[in-house]
Amino acid sequence: MKITGTGSASPSLTVSNDMLATFLDTSDEWIQTRTGIKTRQIISTEQLKDLAAQASTNAIQQAGIKAEELDYIICSNTINEYVTPALSCILQGMLGATCPCIDLNGACAGFIYALDMADALFKRGNMEHILVICAEEPSRMVDWTKRDTSVLFGDGAAAVVLSKGEGFISFKLSTISNTEALYQIRKLQDTPFINKEEEDSALVMKGQDVFKLAVNCSLNDIKDVLKMADVKATNVDHFLLHQANMRIIDTVMKYMKQSEKNFPHNVERYGNTSSASIPMLLDELNRSNKLKTGQKLVFSAFGAGFTTGACLLEWTK
Ligand code: ACO
Repeated sequence: MKITGTGSASPSLTVSNDMLATFLDTSDEWIQTRTGIKTRQIISTEQLKDLAAQASTNAIQQAGIKAEELDYIICSNTINEYVTPALSCILQGMLGATCPCIDLNGACAGFIYALDMADALFKRGNMEHILVICAEEPSRMVDWTKRDTSVLFGDGAAAVVLSKGEGFISFKLSTISNTEALYQIRKLQDTPFINKEEEDSALVMKGQDVFKLAVNCSLNDIKDVLKMADVKATNVDHFLLHQANMRIIDTVMKYMKQSEKNFPHNVERYGNTSSASIPMLLDELNRSNKLKTGQKLVFSAFGAGFTTGACLLEWTK
């Protein structure tokens, strides 16, 4: 498969570090030094499904197809107001598509898992176009009275249209079961048969544990996808890492001994938008003509689960 269209959409409200410091015991200096984040876009008046529809429409238009021509929609989403139906089903109606739809929850690594599923569907042989849409609102997961998590995230949606062709070269996925370092628990409906207290927590994160897991997994995954394809790191033009934290990106870059210019980033403007972060960055690079035909790209993401994944592709647009 190959990418034939990209699209993204962000909420209109820009929240600066100084704005956060008006209601949290934090500062622009702390947030920038520890995370690289300056601003993030946060959902206020919008709905996530509208952002997802806008991002998808942009990608579909760029691919030069109609929504009716999509053979499958895979939506990577961690949380939204509907438990059921899946966000992809809601989106299908908004787009006017008619194909089967499914959501997956791979947390921040969801984009890579969705691409891997799409790759398998193309290999089955009866697909022409698949939409992968990542739509995330982590601002509704964090406790906004806690400075350790709320300053890190932003909301957004980004999509790619994948079409039959040659572009993706190698994939590596891994999961390390871990419910301690990064999790959120929600309370379910009461029943007459259950008699226990259930927790309803905002997102909990052991920052330093996540940092180490993220760096180690990203380095391993990237090494493996390059090895599988017998490609050297020096021959990769753009490494698009999950935009969680500038210090994670810097650390991976330094261990790999690669040039800063090959690690594009926008975490400073969007914060961590979970699985939407890599396709949002991809769309930004694509629409500013930074991607050239024949260039090699690596995507590498990591998130709650602990799920991680990377892939290597050649830009064919
Ligand atoms: N403003 C000011 N002070 C803060 C803030 C804040 N927003 N948050 C925490 N602090 C304080 C802590 O309370 C602590 O104070 P203390 O020393 O008085 O106890 C001090 O800063 C240091 O806290 P640490 O947690 O040790 O800070 P650290 O240097 O580890 O930085 C951070 C925290 C940025 C979260 C870091 O651990 C990190 O980058 N972790 C990676 C996690 C990440 O990026 N997660 C994103 C989501 S997960 C994902 O996408 C996979």
